[in-house]
Amino acid sequence: MIRQALLLSALLASPALSAVRPTNLQSSVLPIRSRVVMRPDGMDVWSGRRLTRVTALAVGAIRVRIGLEGQLGEDASWAVLPEARQATAPVTPLTWGFAGAGLVVTVDPATGGLTVADTAGHVLLKDIDAPARRTATGGGAGFQLAKAMPANWRYFGLGDKTGPLDRRGGSFVTWNSDSPFQETTDPLYKSIPFVIPVGPDGTAAGLFLDNSWRGFFDFGKGQSDTLRFGADGGPIDYYVLAGPTVKDVVQRYARLTGPSPLPPLWALGFQQSRWSYMSADEVRGIAQHYRQDHIPLDALWLDIDYQDRNRPFTVNTKTFPDMAGLVSDLKQQGIRTVAITDLHIAFAPNQGYAPYDTGFVGDHFVKKADGVLYVGPVWPGPAVFPDFTRASTRDWWGGLYKDFVADGIAGFWNDMNEPAVFNTPSKTMPLSNLHRIEEPGFATRTATHAEIHNIFGMENSRATHDGLLKLRPDERPFVLTRASFAGGQRYAATWTGDNSSTWNQLRMTVPMLLNLGMSGFAWSGADVGGFLGTPSADLLTRWIEIGAFQPIFRDHSAKDTAYQEPWVHGPVHEAIRRRFIEERYRLMPYFYAVADETARTGLPMMRPVFMDYPDALDTDCPSDMVFTVGGKLLVAPPPQPESPGWYDVCLPKGGWFDYWTGKPATPRMRGTRQVVQEKPALDQLPVYVRAGTILPRQPLVQSTMETPIGALELAVYPGDGCAGTLYADDGHSLGYQRGAYLRQTVRCSVTPTGLELRFDKRDGSYKPWWHDIDVVIHGWNGPAPTATLDDKPVPATADATAATLTVRIPDRRDISLLRLVRTASDH
Ligand code: GLC
Repeated sequence: MIRQALLLSALLASPALSAVRPTNLQSSVLPIRSRVVMRPDGMDVWSGRRLTRVTALAVGAIRVRIGLEGQLGEDASWAVLPEARQATAPVTPLTWGFAGAGLVVTVDPATGGLTVADTAGHVLLKDIDAPARRTATGGGAGFQLAKAMPANWRYFGLGDKTGPLDRRGGSFVTWNSDSPFQETTDPLYKSIPFVIPVGPDGTAAGLFLDNSWRGFFDFGKGQSDTLRFGADGGPIDYYVLAGPTVKDVVQRYARLTGPSPLPPLWALGFQQSRWSYMSADEVRGIAQHYRQDHIPLDALWLDIDYQDRNRPFTVNTKTFPDMAGLVSDLKQQGIRTVAITDLHIAFAPNQGYAPYDTGFVGDHFVKKADGVLYVGPVWPGPAVFPDFTRASTRDWWGGLYKDFVADGIAGFWNDMNEPAVFNTPSKTMPLSNLHRIEEPGFATRTATHAEIHNIFGMENSRATHDGLLKLRPDERPFVLTRASFAGGQRYAATWTGDNSSTWNQLRMTVPMLLNLGMSGFAWSGADVGGFLGTPSADLLTRWIEIGAFQPIFRDHSAKDTAYQEPWVHGPVHEAIRRRFIEERYRLMPYFYAVADETARTGLPMMRPVFMDYPDALDTDCPSDMVFTVGGKLLVAPPPQPESPGWYDVCLPKGGWFDYWTGKPATPRMRGTRQVVQEKPALDQLPVYVRAGTILPRQPLVQSTMETPIGALELAVYPGDGCAGTLYADDGHSLGYQRGAYLRQTVRCSVTPTGLELRFDKRDGSYKPWWHDIDVVIHGWNGPAPTATLDDKPVPATADATAATLTVRIPDRRDISLLRLVRTASDH
């Protein structure tokens, strides 16, 4: 406590913080004296009629609620978990503010403006204008806020918006839209009003505007030093998350809105889709082709044409006469079936269409302002729209999956849920339509579509997720959604929607998926090969190579385009594509261990390099195309993927290995940066492994359903902090939540006489598939050493050309120490 007080007084005396104390520009213009009333967990600031309530939260964030006319909005949220909102933190009062939740908040007495700093004195966010009303559409009372944008700060987040990874200089609208997109299209399908400001030294914070109305974020486009954001209605309710690093911010955001849960293992495999495979025979043919050509595959997707007249929850029994039989035959071949189930229900009264009939009887559909059922055209023609903000409607919707679940369909695809409506300029339903809210925290009331629109898709995927859990209580639901909102990662994976088969769109996949991952959505993908248009052979090959290292790896294409399965361009391209898909399967134990980390921490699998290596921020190397898988594998595709000339890849400080050769990388110094030059031929993709990594790998399989034959591999790349994690479970049930998993950290250290590998205690009760482990040490020069596992000799083989040493050890729960000692003459 004394230490904390000392730290605080030192901090308040520090020039960094005093520089940001009462110096607000507005003070000379707006002579409002503010009044601060302290609360145990924060403060109320009165500035004229305006009330600003700041609350410190245990997750390491402050929540700011503002009532421009003195009245705070509803204390409710679709995005933030109730427990995170309610767990407040004690604060230490300061003269004009408080310290708490890892942050220091000060008030400008003249304006009531807030400055949020970290405990080291870095200003994270500072008000520069008073919150103000703003003209708005949709019948709400619009508002806007303005924060300073220091010149050298960068801004990440907002999910899969187009444009560069860094949002600075851009301006975006949050309004879920059915938008087949090009380079600058905005808005897109999802709205995630979460931003991560990052300073040049890696200091980071989070800013989350918890508001579902149509909103906007202007990152210095209107005024280069001002971040302006707001919404067309609803409460002014936002969170500032403490860092100090980007990784900390992302983890706090996961605690606030929930992490992406552990997906079923098959969802990490390769998946093939098309709009549409038109019959069961065609689907069987695709499966057979995969198996004949020995290309691993885990899932086949059924798009809208499997249905009767595009009516959700029906099957065209002429073309798909035996769905259960198809699903089970595919499963025999290690392939799961995923089916689309769009949210619109065909408006088909008196036609024996149960989803309409039961939905109508249960009063589950959205109505117009005049109380009459709203009907709008989508794929089935005239359609009605479930009112997903009602718990009872979500229950009813979840029950619609009963027959498909009985057929054995493994995953479901919620598309068009912005919601998309055809033949109308707004591309959606009227903003005056009425939804009914039944949700803890919210008053039970009606709300206009203007308020609900952005969370409609998220609540659709929530209904699906919860329904599947009810129908299969011990299975992990897999749902893919197109539209969503902040927090929607709790219910579904996502994809970037209707991209195109162009080189530029392949390039865009990287910043889009990186920003999704930083915005909570760890399980995301872009249609591999591009959806609209037909990819050239080279483009599809490159796309599969890069997609192999992205979270959701699904090839999908539109109607009226050529087929784009891996074999369509002949054996040379097919062989390259197969090799990359195979590599994904060899790396599956690593991917899965990262998935376990994601579920526990919220850290995504696909990360910007600076997330694990802040020195990567301080670089002039082009970086929008570079990413890591779990922080340890650095993937560096050509920045101009269509014409790879030479390009530089900056490797963060420290050692790296070339993943493909297994040999240490040999970068040269460019200024303070270490750089490797690359010019990959079409069949190569540069991938590096961080020195100090232990990567689990496995023998090749054709599906995650297949048990690998042989040993688990632990590829050891010696270096500082050398460690790796093993994770395994049954891949599909929730047993892991009851202890049926295996988690184990393995560490390596170079000793004066060789190397040691220590196995930490194994957690969990799960018995893995492997009986032996091949430890492969990279960068090993010289003959094989004496190898002992817990003092018993084990065989070791050195390969001078590959510079590796392979040691086969029997797996047991309690193995502890593998010791490699070079014979005296080799030291
Ligand atoms: C939408 C989806 C696309 C799907 C198509 C037909 O355009 O974004 O992925 O194939 O609808 O269902």
